[in-house]
Amino acid sequence: MKLWGGRFTKEENTLVDQFNASISFDQRFYRQDIRGSIAHVTMLAKQGILTASEKEQIIAGLEGILADVESGALKIDPDAEDIHSFVEAALISRIGSAGKKLHTGRSRNDQVALDMKLYIRDEIGALDALLKELLLTLLTLIEENLETYMPGFTHLQKAQPVTAAHHFGAYFEMFLRDRSRLSDIQKRMNTCPLGAGALAGTTYPLDREYTASLLGFDCATRNSMDSVSDRDYLIELCSAMATVMMHLSRFSEEIILWNSNEYQFVELDDAYSTGSSIMPQKKNPDIAELVRGKTGRVYGALTSILTTMKGIPLAYNKDMQEDKELVFDAIDTTKGCLALFTGMLATMKLNKKVMEKSAMNGFTNATDAADYLVNHGVPFRDAHGIVGRLVLYCLDKGITLDDMSLEEYKAISPVFEQDIYEAIRLKTCVEKRTTLGAPGPSVMKRTAEEYRRLLEE
Ligand code: ARG
Repeated sequence: MKLWGGRFTKEENTLVDQFNASISFDQRFYRQDIRGSIAHVTMLAKQGILTASEKEQIIAGLEGILADVESGALKIDPDAEDIHSFVEAALISRIGSAGKKLHTGRSRNDQVALDMKLYIRDEIGALDALLKELLLTLLTLIEENLETYMPGFTHLQKAQPVTAAHHFGAYFEMFLRDRSRLSDIQKRMNTCPLGAGALAGTTYPLDREYTASLLGFDCATRNSMDSVSDRDYLIELCSAMATVMMHLSRFSEEIILWNSNEYQFVELDDAYSTGSSIMPQKKNPDIAELVRGKTGRVYGALTSILTTMKGIPLAYNKDMQEDKELVFDAIDTTKGCLALFTGMLATMKLNKKVMEKSAMNGFTNATDAADYLVNHGVPFRDAHGIVGRLVLYCLDKGITLDDMSLEEYKAISPVFEQDIYEAIRLKTCVEKRTTLGAPGPSVMKRTAEEYRRLLEE
């Protein structure tokens, strides 16, 4: 018999029950459900709505259920409608009539809104901790590679030389923003919906601020209809996770390229690679590819929940039950990807020589050759044209700017002197880039120190 069976006369239909039930997925927040109920009865007793003895029996009963579910002594009934019904039924069967008072002044609508918020708050903490681990791994890579030269790309064409530290630093910034997005969501969502009832509050003298404070919320929600129908924070969370995944996916794409035969900038650890069933020589970057692939799932969750919410009239409607599987899957996926990606990054080897050699060809120092001319009084636009001709000359001869003789330089522009070779040396090109945010090792070192401080805060 259902919680709400009183008004019904017909037999239940199994297919309808299965279609309607959420126990298979909302059982994952049994802890939050019990925690919310304990706060609720604590408040009910403070307000004189329950006696102290009823409160004590209920809390002892709920704590027993929690302990037994944790230990496996109590199995969550797969035929229950949802976790709320299951806990209430278990309580009544354990403590009898006092258990029947648990749901006083509450509806499953505010209850599920509360459980979901409590659950998401915990998961935001877990996501944040995983992002911090990733940032620490990145910071180590940054500190170790301040002078690991590599080509910087635009349009996937070699552009100007940078360092691996600087490249990793770009990702550090992205994941730092991801953390701050999570903390923004946390701030905005931290209001307690319990006591909103089905949609219109209750006639009992509840102290909603008290319940809110027991559960670590900043305050109670202000509008009971909004309280039971607000899923904005789930949309924000899916959006923040989609952004995390987009960053992981871009990084994965680069690692896949860098790990390829053509680049050979890095080598992934055997533990994070897989073989081929037919080609014995293969060592494939499957983990990075899966992270890139799973990004689509998380985007899907965001699109689905936005679409589910768009036509829902106030206040609670059952459509909203669809929020759970989507958000749970997106959270599991994002957490899994963060953990694996961090492990993959921490064990990845950088082929510093290959990276440096790659930075030396492809004319990554062409801008510096133009800057040399500018420093000798040539207007930048003319300098650009002169170096363009140098590049054409080199391409024709199959050499680099560093290989040209001074006579060859002078034949194109008499401004060039012996010191051009020093000016376009790879190390010089990077070291001279010392403006704020640039790859010069001296400035990047200061940035890394700032990153360390930020992570220690
Ligand atoms: N399983 C439901 C959900 O996830 C709980 C709320 C049920 N409320 C109701 N009025 N049927 O949304």
